[in-house]
Amino acid sequence: MTYTSARDRLIVALDMPTLEAARSLVHSLDDTVSFYKVGLELLFVGGLQFAQELRHMRKRVFLDMKLLDIGNTVERAVSNAADLGVNFLTVHGTDVKTMHAAVTGRGDRPMKLLAVTVLTNLTTEDLKQQGSAMTPAQLVLHRAKLAYETGFDGVIASGQEAEAIRAATAPDFLIVTPGIRLAGGGADDQARIMTPDRAISAGADYLVIGRPITEASEPKMMADTFIRHIKEARHGMVK
Ligand code: C5P
Repeated sequence: MTYTSARDRLIVALDMPTLEAARSLVHSLDDTVSFYKVGLELLFVGGLQFAQELRHMRKRVFLDMKLLDIGNTVERAVSNAADLGVNFLTVHGTDVKTMHAAVTGRGDRPMKLLAVTVLTNLTTEDLKQQGSAMTPAQLVLHRAKLAYETGFDGVIASGQEAEAIRAATAPDFLIVTPGIRLAGGGADDQARIMTPDRAISAGADYLVIGRPITEASEPKMMADTFIRHIKEARHGMVK
């Protein structure tokens, strides 16, 4: 298995209103951050073009497109996304047809496919409203197993579900975890949150962090703080 440093395990979510704001943040984070997530907010103001800029800066890119459509559409969309040379792409992990189509569309390109299990802002009550009798933990595990069996490389899941996913899949199945907050920090609109230390100790491979860094008065210092927490938690695991 290849070695991944604590620094490379931090993914900063570029949920910014404009390209200029995203560019300025990336500039100020400089060498501290090597991996960025481009999501829906940035997409509509030139996010795909910015993904190419990031690649030219030798940054890794996670395209968080959360695809969900009929197989034919997903297959072709994933194939085009793989041609962009990005590192991670998300597809909703709700049904195996969509996931099989994504795996076919990706083909033998190196882009990793990650299934969105259950959004980290959703609670048992929210799932009930959607018509599911499962708790988030049960549904996440169910979808993670489907993603694994379908040939996905990993999942997006909260730290609270990481341990069960790891036990039900494989050591190299990627667990990418949003909803990360420092102890004592606010939750924003997230529901199933966890500290970086606990998420890493529970088995998360990558942490996706947005507002705690993008809205910090000193983003670079805050990114360094998260990297330190990741490093310490990983040291604790090998003791
Ligand atoms: O600002 P914050 O740290 O809460 O950002 C979390 C990021 O992770 C957002 O970009 C959000 O879209 C993403 N995400 C999530 N829950 C998921 C999948 C992605 O919060 N299940």
